[in-house]
Amino acid sequence: MTALIIDTDPGVDDAFAIALACSSPEVDLLGVTTVFGNVGLAMTTRNALRLLALYGREDVPVAAGADRPLVFPHPHRARYVHGEDGLSGLSDSLPARATGLASTDAVSLLAALLDRAAEPVTIVPIGPLTNIALLLAVHPSLTGKIARIVIMGGAMAGGNVTAGAEFNIWSDPEAARRVLTEEEVPTVLVPMDLTVRCAVDQAWLDRLAASGERGRTLVDLTAVYRAHYRKSLGRDGTVLHDAVAMAEAISPGILKTTPLPLEVECGQGPGRGMVIADRRTTAAREASGERGGRRVDVALDADLDGVREHMITQLIG
Ligand code: BDR
Ligand code: CA
Repeated sequence: MTALIIDTDPGVDDAFAIALACSSPEVDLLGVTTVFGNVGLAMTTRNALRLLALYGREDVPVAAGADRPLVFPHPHRARYVHGEDGLSGLSDSLPARATGLASTDAVSLLAALLDRAAEPVTIVPIGPLTNIALLLAVHPSLTGKIARIVIMGGAMAGGNVTAGAEFNIWSDPEAARRVLTEEEVPTVLVPMDLTVRCAVDQAWLDRLAASGERGRTLVDLTAVYRAHYRKSLGRDGTVLHDAVAMAEAISPGILKTTPLPLEVECGQGPGRGMVIADRRTTAAREASGERGGRRVDVALDADLDGVREHMITQLIG
């Protein structure tokens, strides 16, 4: 059993990641926390509650977190990717959850769940890293209760929100820097270079839609999202970024990772939000006078068909 907490900004691909966790019998889903990102916090929180309701998960506590980045606010949202409501305009068609929000904030819920966990917990941040940076800053004594942090974010070779930066990291670079460079918690970063290569096609979506009501509903949620990717990729490919990170969280090792020292560009220039991976050899790094400290396991490769098959097998059940 993998004890798991999702920090999310649903988001169409977040919906698939949440669905994957809910459909996987090996996951003990302890909680879901929400953050601003693809749309504003009120909507990401509403969407998270409704997605859990779709999977009959009234039992999972949900708490709302940051509604803006730590240091520099910005108005950007990804409505052009995910639709006005974050779910291709279909949020209202999902069932409402009878159980409302926990009477606490996201960071307090994360801390409480970690504190009372019998086994170390995997945290899966699939939105901006604001809540996670705050958790690590405010509750350093709880880091020993974290098995791994499996993050969707970053781009090694060209971003999606700017030329160099990926949306989740760009949305709060200061928070990302704290999580990716300052902490010693075992961390996997799943960048968009790999998630794009794991894009699913029409046949994959048709198979999911044919599997039943939940599968049909998930596929319906992709309408606006698919159109965006068809245009930006120049082919029909639906990029389920967050679900790929969730696959690694559920099945450690399904993605091939390389340990690399990382930096996050926090300046206000065109590189803001870029993740810089140091791919020099240790000898080359040391020759330049740098020691290279903490390393993050960056997912650079995978058996792509294996990942796609794993995701659909779990989702279909
Ligand atoms: C990431 O940004 C969001 O739009 C997606 O939900 C995903 O988490 C991809 O860059
Ligand atoms: Ca997301």
